[in-house]
Amino acid sequence: MFMIIFLFVMESIQEQCEAYGVRLFLGHYYTSLKIDTDALRIVFNTKNICNNQFQLFIKGDLEFNISNYKTKLLNMTDVYIGTKANIEYETYIHTFQIPKQLSSIVLYTLIRNDTIIKQAQVKLPHLQQETTKVLFFGDMDSSWVYNRSKQTFDWFENQIKQKIQFDSLIFTGDMAYDLESDNCQRGELWLSRISLFTSQYPFMITPGNHDGGFDYKYTFLREHFQMLYLTEYDTQNYQNDFYSFNIGLVHFIQYDPVMIVYKADPNNYTKERLLQQFRNDLITAVQNREEVPWIVVFTHYPIYCNFMDDDQCVNNFKYLAEFEKLFKEFHVDLYVSGHQHNYQRNYPYYQNDSALFEMDGNIYYNYESPITIIEGAGGADYGPEIMIYHDQPYTAKQLAQNGVGLLQVMNKTHLQFQQIQVSTNEVMDEIWIIRTSDINNEKSNSLKYWLISIIICAIIIVVLFVFIKQNGRKQKTYQKAYDSNLV
Ligand SMILES: *[C@@H]1O[C@H](CO)[C@@H](O)[C@H](O)[C@H]1NC(C)=O
Ligand SMILES: *[C@@H]1O[C@H](CO)[C@@H](O)[C@H](O)[C@H]1NC(C)=O
Ligand SMILES: *[C@@H]1O[C@H](CO)[C@@H](O)[C@H](O)[C@H]1NC(C)=O
Ligand SMILES: *[C@@H]1O[C@H](CO)[C@@H](O)[C@H](O)[C@H]1NC(C)=O
Ligand SMILES: *[C@@H]1O[C@H](CO)[C@@H](O)[C@H](O)[C@H]1NC(C)=O
Ligand SMILES: *[C@@H]1O[C@H](CO)[C@@H](O)[C@H](O)[C@H]1NC(C)=O
Ligand SMILES: *[C@@H]1O[C@H](CO)[C@@H](O)[C@H](O)[C@H]1NC(C)=O
Repeated sequence: MFMIIFLFVMESIQEQCEAYGVRLFLGHYYTSLKIDTDALRIVFNTKNICNNQFQLFIKGDLEFNISNYKTKLLNMTDVYIGTKANIEYETYIHTFQIPKQLSSIVLYTLIRNDTIIKQAQVKLPHLQQETTKVLFFGDMDSSWVYNRSKQTFDWFENQIKQKIQFDSLIFTGDMAYDLESDNCQRGELWLSRISLFTSQYPFMITPGNHDGGFDYKYTFLREHFQMLYLTEYDTQNYQNDFYSFNIGLVHFIQYDPVMIVYKADPNNYTKERLLQQFRNDLITAVQNREEVPWIVVFTHYPIYCNFMDDDQCVNNFKYLAEFEKLFKEFHVDLYVSGHQHNYQRNYPYYQNDSALFEMDGNIYYNYESPITIIEGAGGADYGPEIMIYHDQPYTAKQLAQNGVGLLQVMNKTHLQFQQIQVSTNEVMDEIWIIRTSDINNEKSNSLKYWLISIIICAIIIVVLFVFIKQNGRKQKTYQKAYDSNLV
């Protein structure tokens, strides 16, 4: 009898320490802070505190074990005590930090008391790499009532089987519909299910309007998806609505203007702060453009979209007008958002009017505003089925199939973006962006100077020649005149 009770108690302790929701994030090594000890984070949850039970074995340039990790209680009961949210939910979040590695593939093994929980080979991006491969997707859940995101999960499973590597996944917002619903069980299920790909690839996110939680403070989201902060002293439990990081030749910027586009910023405080952070970040990015030429902005909120029943599609160009000005001033190359539940690519547009750009087939050149893309086709059981909307003057392409967007930066001048239909793995839309502006501007400027110098020289030579000739003729005329006594 005692033995049975003992075994039962042991069993329930085991149960409480089962790790779920393993996920990877890029750390502050990739931000302007360049913290060497924080290249990759491996994060997971347990129901209980489970002190000293986990260990991480790393095989990168060196082989080493890490047994120190941070554990944090997320007590949602306490967050909502005395409110109508009716949430009683506790979970423990554990975080391992991995220092930067020279090798680009790192094998990690997460162990609990000598049992392997997860083992995976992960590509750890290098700051100096030439090519970069990043996957964008968003507006996705895992509740599977209508199974709209199932194909996306299956597609990921295939990528992993084929050992295809990505430098990072970038999630364009709106997950689980919603994380804190059903007493946070939606969030827990989501974490468990996305672990399929978040335990294989670093997962970077921007919050969507569905991710705010009952109090719109994004507690569940921010504690579980540790976003980067700007300064060492601004940790604030990852409360940043602005952050940026570099991978290879790309500077990625995330911003979350939710307060602005939902008119919840009456004094413009959030807007002014975000604009200041944006401007400062872009000034630094542009100074470094020789090394890192590409600037890609991502957020949940499109500036131009096609669902005209949504205020976001009608008025965001007004709400975000000052941000759009910055994108033009600093020549942002690409703007990727979510929110609308399909794939849409737009022509460069500016303040609700067409912007200058050149296009040759599917190649964009000399764009004065960024190329904008909506990646909201991850598969959401929430809302109507994925569909095509009435075309607007800026619409270049819309797709109503679930898909993900693959960004490949080939080098300093060539960037490719492909929309992949997840059910067939087919490329449904492909564009190239060729950067000629900055580099070639200088080149063409110096060419201009050469041309101007040559023209000036030619004019001087011609003038001198004419002058000499004229003089010669005058001489001759004088001679003639003299000869004929005309003077
Ligand atoms: C890491 O830990 C495992 C198991 O505890 C042990 O077998 C291995 O030798 C350790 N490796 C290093 C490099 O310390
Ligand atoms: C979580 O918060 C609730 C409400 O404040 C409290 O009763 C409970 O003891 C807390 N749980 C833990 C593990 O601290
Ligand atoms: C796991 O290891 C820890 C520390 O060595 C120990 O306290 C705990 O009882 C072990 N748990 C199980 C279920 O074996
Ligand atoms: C969703 O998938 C499950 C499991 O494959 C299946 O049982 C269920 O019928 C599907 N639901 C719909 C609406 O297709
Ligand atoms: C906030 O900014 C908008 C747009 O620039 C402006 O119209 C409005 O007057 C500003 N509000 C305040 C309180 O300054
Ligand atoms: C934006 O431009 C479209 C025409 O392309 C026009 O119909 C619409 O009224 C404009 N929106 C605003 C708010 O000016
Ligand atoms: C950049 O990449 C493109 C596409 O792969 C290639 O055609 C071009 O030659 C490359 N340029 C340089 C300078 O390597």
